[in-house]
Amino acid sequence: MTTRPIRFLHRGAVVEAPGFPPMTTVLDWLRLERRLTGTKEGCGEGDCGACTVALGRVKDGRLAYEPANACIMLLGQLDGAELVTVEDLASGGRLHPVQQALVDHHGSQCGFCTPGFVMSLFTLYQEGAGADREAVLERLAGNLCRCTGYRPIVDAALAACSTPPDDAHARRSAATAATLADLADGDDVFVGNEEAFFAAPASLDALASLMQRHPDATLVGGSTDVGLWITKQLRTLPKLVHTGRVAELRTLTVTDEALTIGAAVTYGEAAVALGALDPDVALLLQRLGSAQVRTAGTIGGNVANGSPIGDMPPLLISLGAEVALRHGEAVRTLPLERFFIAYGRQDRAPGEVVTHLRVPRLAAGEHLRVFKIAKRHDQDISSVMLAMAVRLDGGRIAGARIAFGGMAGIPKRAEAVEQALDGVAIDDGAAIGRAVARLGEDFTPLDDHRASAAYRLKVAANLVIKGLAEIAAGDRSATRLTPLRGASHAA
Ligand SMILES: Cc1cc2nc3c(=O)[nH]c(=O)nc-3n(C[C@H](O)[C@H](O)[C@H](O)COP(=O)(O)OP(=O)(O)OC[C@H]3O[C@@H](n4cnc5c(N)ncnc54)[C@H](O)[C@@H]3O)c2cc1C
Ligand code: FES
Ligand code: FES
Repeated sequence: MTTRPIRFLHRGAVVEAPGFPPMTTVLDWLRLERRLTGTKEGCGEGDCGACTVALGRVKDGRLAYEPANACIMLLGQLDGAELVTVEDLASGGRLHPVQQALVDHHGSQCGFCTPGFVMSLFTLYQEGAGADREAVLERLAGNLCRCTGYRPIVDAALAACSTPPDDAHARRSAATAATLADLADGDDVFVGNEEAFFAAPASLDALASLMQRHPDATLVGGSTDVGLWITKQLRTLPKLVHTGRVAELRTLTVTDEALTIGAAVTYGEAAVALGALDPDVALLLQRLGSAQVRTAGTIGGNVANGSPIGDMPPLLISLGAEVALRHGEAVRTLPLERFFIAYGRQDRAPGEVVTHLRVPRLAAGEHLRVFKIAKRHDQDISSVMLAMAVRLDGGRIAGARIAFGGMAGIPKRAEAVEQALDGVAIDDGAAIGRAVARLGEDFTPLDDHRASAAYRLKVAANLVIKGLAEIAAGDRSATRLTPLRGASHAA
């Protein structure tokens, strides 16, 4: 096995980092080591966007820039990417078009948030798609400003991102892509020693054998959960194994029957294929975290983390997904709902790796509804999340998989309600009311700062009723405040 240090492109040169403490974040490297203090630290937990940087990677044959939160991203995750910060934008003594637009539209006051806004807008500018207001709001959902107000910032964004990109980065994109292609080799990355290391194997065999040797190591996908263990819980994680270079975990296969999603596929990469399953899934992904979180966060990390309020598990359970795991040479597959045993406990042995998820498509006659209830529309964790797949046969319910997040210590199906709904006519409000009244048999929800137990039970019942009413009506638009994009609203 050939191993090498991490390598990435920064300011036109390849940086080779042969030694660094494994938990080093991109933000600490920039500010403390490189003394590049344009990138700010606000919250240190991925929420405010002050630390936003742009990562360039070759995707679908072209260089694409995505925003990322430097505060929770590990330095080792940069391997193979170009890192662009706010210091790298102005050129030839002139501000970058997004910077100039923020000046022209009075989009900055104290300026603390401004580098983060600039970098998010830089990534949108590079897309050159003639961004509309909706695209701007979506891209900026992970950037908070506490003094300017968003109207001038949005005006600046619309002015700057309405034309094809014509800046130094766009002009040298072919050369940058060629350099990144040279960095993309099949060698395993290993920095450190047997007691403390950052590793990024390039193949599933190498990952499995490394995890067998170090079952106490922490797997890292996008680090949007693990990063907070470091910055907020101040945990010491001496052995970190990144999955982002494992070719087999980075693939997403689409067939007529199912999607097979590698554990290290990010939300951003899975959005089109998953969103095509149903408009509700597209909306859920648009509201999951922020653009920065979706650049890094993986579907496998959301599942493996086992959070009772993660958004993917209820959705995937309602679709009948299976999870595949590998431990050394051994492989096994189980229905995803059986993976979650109890709060904080998953059916995963130390050293075992989630490799992929198999997500069947909806069968003929099956209808999906997904509702996320959170305190904010954008970038917020669910208080309650419902995903349900309901099969209709001649106007009657002939099977339902109803999965909730936020209602128990694990993502969990409402089995008593499912049974009570079996055979009920889809427009029989009284029978549906009696069925959802059984939610109390399925769940004893928590009272916490997000929502009370009584609220959770009430909202959960109402969501099931709302979903079934939409299915009965064959149209979702009448019950929605948020317009759905993409696929038709009906069905
Ligand atoms: C600002 C912010 C907003 C967020 N919003 C949402 C939201 O709206 N909805 C939501 O559901 N989540 C949200 N999250 C949580 C987080 O983004 C997700 O849980 C994400 O999917 C985690 O993926 P990751 O790749 O970053 O995981 P990591 O942080 O890399 O890992 C998470 C866990 O999974 C383990 N792991 C990772 N990969 C594997 C593997 N292949 N096999 C076994 N174990 C593995 C890790 O060891 C760790 O225990 C948010 C986080 C932040 C910071
Ligand atoms: S410092 Fe707030 S998101 Fe990174
Ligand atoms: S300009 Fe002060 S926080 Fe945005």
